[in-house]
Amino acid sequence: MTPDLAAIAYLVAAICFILALKGLASPASARRGNAIGIAGMVLAVAVTVADPAILSYEWIAGALVLGGAIGATIALRIHMTAMPQLVAAFHSLVGMAAVLVAAAALYHPHAFGIAGGAGEALGIATRIEMILGMAVGAITFSGSVVAFAKLQGVVSGAPLVFRGQHLANLAIALAIAACGAWFVAGQGEAAFWLVAALAFVIGVTLIVPIGGADMPVVVSMLNSYSGWAAAGIGFTLENELLIITGALVGSSGAILSYVMCKGMNRSFIDVILGGFGGTAAAATAAAAQRTARRGSAEDAAFVMANARKVIVVPGYGMAVALAQHALRDMADRLKAKGVEIAYAIHPVAGRMPGHMNVLLAEAQVPYDEVFELEEINSAFAAADVAFVIGANDVCNPLAKTDPQSPIAGMPVLEVWKAPVTLVVKRSLSPGYAGIDNPLFYRDGTMMLFADARKMVEEIARSLE
Ligand code: TAP
Repeated sequence: MTPDLAAIAYLVAAICFILALKGLASPASARRGNAIGIAGMVLAVAVTVADPAILSYEWIAGALVLGGAIGATIALRIHMTAMPQLVAAFHSLVGMAAVLVAAAALYHPHAFGIAGGAGEALGIATRIEMILGMAVGAITFSGSVVAFAKLQGVVSGAPLVFRGQHLANLAIALAIAACGAWFVAGQGEAAFWLVAALAFVIGVTLIVPIGGADMPVVVSMLNSYSGWAAAGIGFTLENELLIITGALVGSSGAILSYVMCKGMNRSFIDVILGGFGGTAAAATAAAAQRTARRGSAEDAAFVMANARKVIVVPGYGMAVALAQHALRDMADRLKAKGVEIAYAIHPVAGRMPGHMNVLLAEAQVPYDEVFELEEINSAFAAADVAFVIGANDVCNPLAKTDPQSPIAGMPVLEVWKAPVTLVVKRSLSPGYAGIDNPLFYRDGTMMLFADARKMVEEIARSLE
């Protein structure tokens, strides 16, 4: 393939990636967006492996088959609820790839066509791009490994805060900058590996202080970092497609982080520096002695059948129980009785951005019944019933009342403003943030203790 033809094919692939992102912006076009993205990636890989500079294909074929088989197996087996840790694990691979490619380019620049004649040193611009891409890649790698371990429950999700944390991070960052400058000034291997080691360390120290409830922002931020790492290496290797793809991932991840920070009322700088939120102990202890009112499926059916408007608040538990189809069936029966139904979606409900929207779309819930937090929060007071199914943190009033709470300041769905709040979950145990929820003990709340799918199926039967 000629270089011109390859450049045109890369451009087509880049356009596919942009169209894919556009498609993914709405549940209605997400499948098409995915298909276009896959087509773009197949084209990009095909053009890359058709490069005449490649002399033998054994290693490439082996890696493609092995990587493809591992990827396909994971994709087929993974549960929707484990997506965030899978995404974190994949980001770590992107980060490590950036480090390894940068190292390969440092040791064999001629193989990558980035140094002039034999024995010629790397140019200053190439060194800057290389060290930046490698450092961001190393931070992405170790940060993503920590995020994976927290999300998977391998280590505690609680914030790990120590005295002088910010000062230590600042010192490491300055040391990275100094070693980076040393590398750019012409020093070779030692400076390169010093930057790598320090960047691996700061990736850990930046992420350990971040608590469970704030992990979604961290994952999207690491997503952005992985893109910038790829873009940096793209500049080093003068590969336009890698630059465009990295920039797309980097900027879309940054936009998502910003949107999530806004949704959770967090400062972006706080996220980058790590360690926000408070302690959970006080709230949990305070709520431990209170009692919650318990109801049955029949009670819930009676209350909702006599309501004018019911607002459904889905959360992680709905995803675990795969209750979305049964929920849609229950809602259809209520609508047949003249009850108005709306769905309220919190930006971090579930375990990944858009988690609830995807599940509701899968159950063919009409899009015009689904509302974002800021669109619907004021409507709870005017509704008769809030039906909370498998949600907890996203409707925890402590976010508004307890400045010491780890979720303090996070906007929450104000379900307690409805005259009756029905809460479907299996026990009084806390949600992802690990804090108790005073909502369960309020006068207007009725707890429906059961698996979410079983409970909504029973309510639906009681509505017959
Ligand atoms: P959570 O606060 O995690 O609460 C979910 C509740 O579902 C739990 O209290 C659990 O109580 C219940 N549950 C679990 N399995 C169930 C089942 N089979 N049937 C019925 N209930 C079940 O969920 P949320 O309100 O959606 O909030 C999401 C949390 O995850 C936030 O803290 C958010 O920051 C965090 N997070 C979000 C993301 C993204 S991007 N969305 C990513 C990572 C973390 P029982 O055990 O008593 O049933």
